[in-house]
Amino acid sequence: MKKIILAANWKMNLSLNEANDLMKAIDFVNHDNLKTMIFPSSLFLKSILDKFSDKTIIGSQNISEFENGAYTGEISAEQVKSLGITTTLIGHSERRSIFGESNNLVNLKIKRARANHLNIILCIGESLEEREQEKTYDILEAQIVEALDSISSEDFSSIIIAYEPVWAIGTGKTATAEIAQDAHAFIRKMLEKLYPGSEKTEILYGGSVKSSNIESLLAQKDIDGALIGGASLKADEFSKIIAIANQRFS
Ligand code: PGA
Repeated sequence: MKKIILAANWKMNLSLNEANDLMKAIDFVNHDNLKTMIFPSSLFLKSILDKFSDKTIIGSQNISEFENGAYTGEISAEQVKSLGITTTLIGHSERRSIFGESNNLVNLKIKRARANHLNIILCIGESLEEREQEKTYDILEAQIVEALDSISSEDFSSIIIAYEPVWAIGTGKTATAEIAQDAHAFIRKMLEKLYPGSEKTEILYGGSVKSSNIESLLAQKDIDGALIGGASLKADEFSKIIAIANQRFS
């Protein structure tokens, strides 16, 4: 039976009180085969970590490609690490499309994160236009190859991939389980080419995941979990997603 990871990306949502309330209201389940993670606003990382680190893994949504220094408004990997945080998202499609992050920048961030021993969820995915022009696999290949340029197999073993088709993020349009599975199988094949023996790399699906579709997604051979935005902001819905995933082990 494969292991499952359920990661919640809260994006730029919630006040500190709301974040605390949501943490208290979620029914977390964690065991050897099921891991949950929460990515809150970086403003709240320390406070959420101090209160809830026994419930789940807490991670950062982003880090700077730079070391510490004169980079107003940025957050360094070293600072994140100094809080006791172990994991960061890198290359989320909103970072790429709104803040102009290129594959090359994503690569620099991965290097910075690994220099500070952070685990990484690397997000990749094609836009609607790219899918319609049948460029999906070329885009995924470029995102993987360029993001992982000169990353050693040892560092790669600390990376989880999240496949998030941009057209499915926050739109209510989930990729069908078959479309997601096809992309995941392609990604797995690519990773095996780059890092022979890496077939156990976790590949999460993201994009309008909810309690009504999590079961069919997790039933796919190459889908090892989910990165969940909107549905993770509702305690009932996220708890339901966790419970459905956990049923796979009963
Ligand atoms: P969504 O977001 O679940 O709201 O589509 C997913 C994500 O952006 O990680």
